[in-house]
Amino acid sequence: MTRSRLVRSRVDLLQEIAPDVERLFNRHLEAPREWMPHEQIDWGQGESFETRPWSETDYPIAEGVRSSIYVNLLTEDNLPYYTSTLLGHAPKDHPIREWNHQWTMEENRHSMVMRDWVHISRCIDPVVLEVGRRVQMTRAEVPVPESFADLICYVSLQERATQIAHRNTGAHLPKDDRMGRNVLALVAGDETKHYMFYRDLARAAFVIDPSTMMVAAARQIRTFAMPGTGIPSFTRHAVRIAREGIYGLRQFLSDVLEPVLSVWDVGHLANLSAEAERARVELTGVLEKITSTVDRMAQRGARSSLA
Ligand SMILES: [Fe+2]
Ligand SMILES: [Fe+2]
Repeated sequence: MTRSRLVRSRVDLLQEIAPDVERLFNRHLEAPREWMPHEQIDWGQGESFETRPWSETDYPIAEGVRSSIYVNLLTEDNLPYYTSTLLGHAPKDHPIREWNHQWTMEENRHSMVMRDWVHISRCIDPVVLEVGRRVQMTRAEVPVPESFADLICYVSLQERATQIAHRNTGAHLPKDDRMGRNVLALVAGDETKHYMFYRDLARAAFVIDPSTMMVAAARQIRTFAMPGTGIPSFTRHAVRIAREGIYGLRQFLSDVLEPVLSVWDVGHLANLSAEAERARVELTGVLEKITSTVDRMAQRGARSSLA
C-alpha cells in the first residue's frame, strides 16, 4: 500500500468515527468519578524520613507485590509521553482531542494519590522510587502505534491490563492497609471507565472499517507488552509480578484478550479484505500459542506444588 493511500484511510476512519467519539465521551461524562486524592490519605500516619529512615520492615510484603506497586506507579508517572502519543493521532478540532484532555486530567491524579499512599505507608523505598522515576522519564519510552486504528486497539488492551494490574495488586495488600486498598480500587475504577471508552470506540471502528481494524488488532495483540520497558530492571519486576499471580500471560489471556475480543466479535466479521483474513488467521494462531503456553505453565505449577 502506498503512503498516500495509508494516510487517506487513516483520515477517513478518524472522520467517520467522530460521532462515536462524541457519544462515548458524553457517556463517560454522564457517570463522573469525582473523588479527591487528598481525602484518600491518612496524613496523620505519616512520619519524617529524616528522623526515621525507610526500612523494608516498615511494610512487610511479598517482593512481587512490592514490584507491582513500583511498576504500576512509574507507569502512571510516564503519563506525559502517553498523552503526547495520543495527541499525535488527534487532529485539530476533532473530538478525540477533547477526550484526550479529559483522559489526561483523570490519569494525572493516579500517580499523585498512589505516591502519597506509598510515602505515608512506607511500602516502597522513596529513594529507589525517585531514582526509578528519573531514569524512566528521562528515557521517555512508550509504545508508538503506527495508525489511529492501531492506537485504539493498543489503548483498549492497555487500559484493561492496567485495570487488572491495579485491582489484583490491591487484593494482595495486607488486610489492614485499608488506605492502600481504597486508593488502588479508585484507580482501577478509573481505568475501567477508560477501558470502556476505548473498547467501545474500537468496536465502532470495526463497523466502519473492519479490514483495517482486523489488521491493526492482530498486529497489536501479537506485539502487546505491558508498558514499562524504560523502568530500571523491568523484566525482573515483571517476572516477580507474574509469579505472584498479579499480572502475567495468564491474566493477559483470560482477563484482557478474551473479554476484549468477545466484544469486538472478530470471529464474525464479514467482508474482510484478503490481508485482513490473513490477519484473523494469524490472530487465531497467536491465541492458540498463548493458550498452550499458559496451560504448560499451569501444569508445571501444579507439579511443583505436589513435589
Ligand atoms: Fe492510570
Ligand atoms: Fe487509564
